[in-house]
Amino acid sequence: MNNEKVLITGGLGFIGSNLAIRLVEMGAHVTLVDSLIPEYGGNLYNIAPIEKMARINISDVRDTHSMRYLVQDHDYLFNLAGQTSHMDSMQDPYIDLEINCRAQLSILEACKKYNQNIKIVFASTRQIYGKPDYLPVDEKHLLRPTDVNGINKMAGEWYHILYNNTYGIRASALRLTNTYGPRMRVKDARQTFLGIWIKKIIEDKPFELWGGDQLRDFNYVDDVVDALILTASKEEANGKVFNLGGREIVNLRQLAELLVSVNREGKYELKEFPSDRKRIDIGDYYADGSLIEAELGWTAKTDLKTGLSKTLMYYRENMSFYS
Ligand SMILES: NC(=O)c1ccc[n+]([C@@H]2O[C@H](COP(=O)([O-])OP(=O)(O)OC[C@H]3O[C@@H](n4cnc5c(N)ncnc54)[C@H](O)[C@@H]3O)[C@@H](O)[C@H]2O)c1
Repeated sequence: MNNEKVLITGGLGFIGSNLAIRLVEMGAHVTLVDSLIPEYGGNLYNIAPIEKMARINISDVRDTHSMRYLVQDHDYLFNLAGQTSHMDSMQDPYIDLEINCRAQLSILEACKKYNQNIKIVFASTRQIYGKPDYLPVDEKHLLRPTDVNGINKMAGEWYHILYNNTYGIRASALRLTNTYGPRMRVKDARQTFLGIWIKKIIEDKPFELWGGDQLRDFNYVDDVVDALILTASKEEANGKVFNLGGREIVNLRQLAELLVSVNREGKYELKEFPSDRKRIDIGDYYADGSLIEAELGWTAKTDLKTGLSKTLMYYRENMSFYS
C-alpha cells in the first residue's frame, strides 16, 4: 500500500478509522469520506493519530456529485459507509435503502464512468444470511435477511459483484461478523450491543444481557483490517465474497462473564429479549471462515480475552470522546 492512493467511505467510523490508521502507517495516501451523521459511528477523534496525515472530506455517499469527484485518481476504494443499525432500518427503511443500496449503485456508476481501474473492497455483513439453516454458515448458505438492513446490504454487495463481472471493475466483498475494538460506537447499541456493555462496565454500572443463549463469533478490529487490506491486494479475490469467521464461538452469557472477568469487576442483569428485537433476531450464528483461509490465507489472530482487554484499555483512557 506504500504510495497507493486510497479512498475510504465511512472513514471516520469504527472500522474505517482503524483501517485508515494502518494504511497511513503503511505509507498510503488516504482520503476519508464521511457524512458524520450523529446517529452513526463517525467520530473525528477516531483519527486523532493521523489527523494531519489524511485528507478528510465530509460528504455523503448519497451525493452523486461528490462521489463522482472523489472516486477519481484513486487506486483503491474501501467502501465502508453504511447505516448499521438493524432496528433503525425497520423504523426508517427508506434511509437505509438510500445509503446501503442506492448510494452503493451510484458509487459503482461513478467508478464505471470516472475510474474503471479502481479496486474496491465492500464491507458486507453476516446479517444477509438471516436465521441460519445450519451452522457454521458458509458462503453457499441461502440469503434470507430478517430485516431491511440485511436486504439492502445484500443488494449493495451484489451490485459490487455485478460491476466486477459485467464491467471489469475489480470488486470483492467481505461478510463481516460482530466486530469490536477501539473506536467502536459505545454511546448506545446502534452499532453493537457490546458497545453499550463496554461503556456501562467502565462507568461501573450494570449492563443488560438479553436472552444469553445466542451463539456468536467475534472479530477484533485489527484482524478485520488485515482481511480488508489482504483482499484489496489479491487479484484472485476479485468478484468473490468471503465470510470472516471469529476464532471462538461463545454464547452471550459467556461473553458477559468474560467481559466482567477481563475487567476484574462488573455486573450484568439478565433481561427478556425485547419483542421488537426478537422479530428480527437471527438466533445462533457463527461463520465458516475456511474459504478466505484457503484462498487468501486469512484467519482471525486475536482471541476474545486479548481483544476485550485492549478494547477496555482504550475506552478507559478515551471514554470522554465517545459518551
Ligand atoms: N461493526 C460490525 O460489527 C459490522 C458487522 C458487519 C458489517 N459491518 C459493515 O462495516 C461497515 C463499517 O461499519 P462500522 O462498524 O465501522 O460502522 P460505523 O457506523 O462506525 O461506520 C460507518 C461510517 O459510515 C458513515 N456513513 C454512514 N452513512 C453515510 C453516508 N450516507 N455518507 C457518508 N458516510 C456515511 C458513518 O458516519 C460512519 O462513520 C458498514 O458498512 C457495516 O455495515 C460492520
